[in-house]
Amino acid sequence: METKYKNTTIRITSGVYEPCEDSFLLADAALAEIKDADHILEAGCGSGIISAVINANTKASIIGIDISPHAVKCTKENGIQVIRGDLLNCIKGKFDIIIFNPPYLPTREFEKEKGWMNAALDGGPDGRQVIYRFLDDAGFYLVNHGKILMLVSSLTGIEEIKSRMLSLNFSVEEVVQERFMFEQLVVLLATKL
Ligand SMILES: C[S@@+](CC[C@H](N)C(=O)[O-])C[C@H]1O[C@@H](n2cnc3c(N)ncnc32)[C@H](O)[C@@H]1O
Repeated sequence: METKYKNTTIRITSGVYEPCEDSFLLADAALAEIKDADHILEAGCGSGIISAVINANTKASIIGIDISPHAVKCTKENGIQVIRGDLLNCIKGKFDIIIFNPPYLPTREFEKEKGWMNAALDGGPDGRQVIYRFLDDAGFYLVNHGKILMLVSSLTGIEEIKSRMLSLNFSVEEVVQERFMFEQLVVLLATKL
């Protein structure tokens, strides 16, 4: 299957998260924020759609990371440099911006998907399990005044995530909000203080 967005055409292979409203909202927010000299890391790159849009529309350097072998293969085939890893553990160096469209859905045991697709959706019982693990380490991988751009949903608890960012010494603002059916999607911009 193919997806086209903002000067980009990518192929989505089986077992990989299909780009949705959340992917496109975050890609747009990233394009508004990124400067050409920036070094960007995309955590949880999936098909590589957000990285590919950045690559096609800016001169910033970008590398993706994903835990799913299917996502890593797909991102590579879409022309984006990518490594397989669990969040930021295998990353060396510091970045100007880290982008993340995380698994954010509150998920009970019986709601889990089979195989690697579960990693794309399952945010744990409150939706914030992967997000908190990511936030706790992210500051270390950012330059001074580096930024996180992260997609969150009203289903996940936006105020709780903002509080966690503030407690980790980031300033936080909502740069995009949009309502889709049963949820509000928000892009948070957290700046390392
Ligand atoms: C909601 S999907 C977003 C995919 C893509 N960025 C997009 O916006 O279309 C979340 C992605 O995060 C990846 N992921 C989940 N947990 C991860 C972890 N611990 N480390 C790295 N990637 C992870 C999933 O495999 C999935 O590709």
